[in-house]
Amino acid sequence: MSMTQQSGNAVLSAESEAGAFAIRAERLVKVYGAGLTRVEALKGIDLVVRPGDFFAIMGPSGSGKTTLLTILGLVTEPTAGGLEVGGREIYGGRMPDLARIRREETGFIFQAPNLIPFLTAKENVLLPLSLAGVRGKRAQDRVAELLTYLEVAERAELYPNQLSGGEQQRVAIARALANTPRIILADEPTASLDTDRALAVMRLLRRISRENGTAVLVVTHDHRLIGEVDQVIEMEDGRIVLKESKGGGDAAQQANPGGSDS
Ligand SMILES: Nc1ncnc2c1ncn2[C@@H]1O[C@H](COP(=O)(O)OP(=O)(O)O)[C@@H](O)[C@H]1O
Ligand SMILES: [Mg+2]
Repeated sequence: MSMTQQSGNAVLSAESEAGAFAIRAERLVKVYGAGLTRVEALKGIDLVVRPGDFFAIMGPSGSGKTTLLTILGLVTEPTAGGLEVGGREIYGGRMPDLARIRREETGFIFQAPNLIPFLTAKENVLLPLSLAGVRGKRAQDRVAELLTYLEVAERAELYPNQLSGGEQQRVAIARALANTPRIILADEPTASLDTDRALAVMRLLRRISRENGTAVLVVTHDHRLIGEVDQVIEMEDGRIVLKESKGGGDAAQQANPGGSDS
């Protein structure tokens, strides 16, 4: 894993204690329902993600990808197993303030950008900041910085329905980054984009993870998009069946340009 971080470009710098895990999951189990409706969505997931890691999660529909992301994002509580996020044990002893950790440590990106339709691009990005108590000039500056970083600054005053799909997704990414999360969880963020835009989003996530040391987990079905990632995690029926290192995108950028992809 390359931990090279250009701290000069610390637009989003997640201050990562050396050696700390972004995420450490141990034997995570998730059961939904009971009796006849019982579904064991996760059957013992072990996963370590370090700051700056850029992982893809793949696998058939129903294999547990979304369940895993929502557990790692502290939205869903696991039925069993251990979870550490940003160096903090979550379900071990005294329950920490989950809402706060979720707000400060994690950023979610979904398939549909899910922007609030009656807020402008700028206001959509401002929202998580004000929820975290960041206001005034500091918040305004942060929004401007993020929209510039995502190359949608000139769209700041527009409403979601005035933006293209790709622009909406970039605003959604800006929103996810607002509170400098150490972890970005993206659930099929490129599914509604054409291949070029989808690739652009993957490269952007790659860059964010590299420049800021943000750990990024992205669920995708598209094999054309995984050249950028460090590792592919293949899920099947609630288990991780394969972890395949991809060499962190450096190799991918050089290896067979335009050649046959897998
Ligand atoms: N809220 C829920 N209630 C009951 N079953 C669920 C719920 N969410 C997911 N499941 C079930 O858990 C399994 C894994 O689903 P999911 O995590 O959404 O998989 P994926 O994202 O890989 O398609 C599926 O069998 C699904 O039907
Ligand atoms: Mg899913």
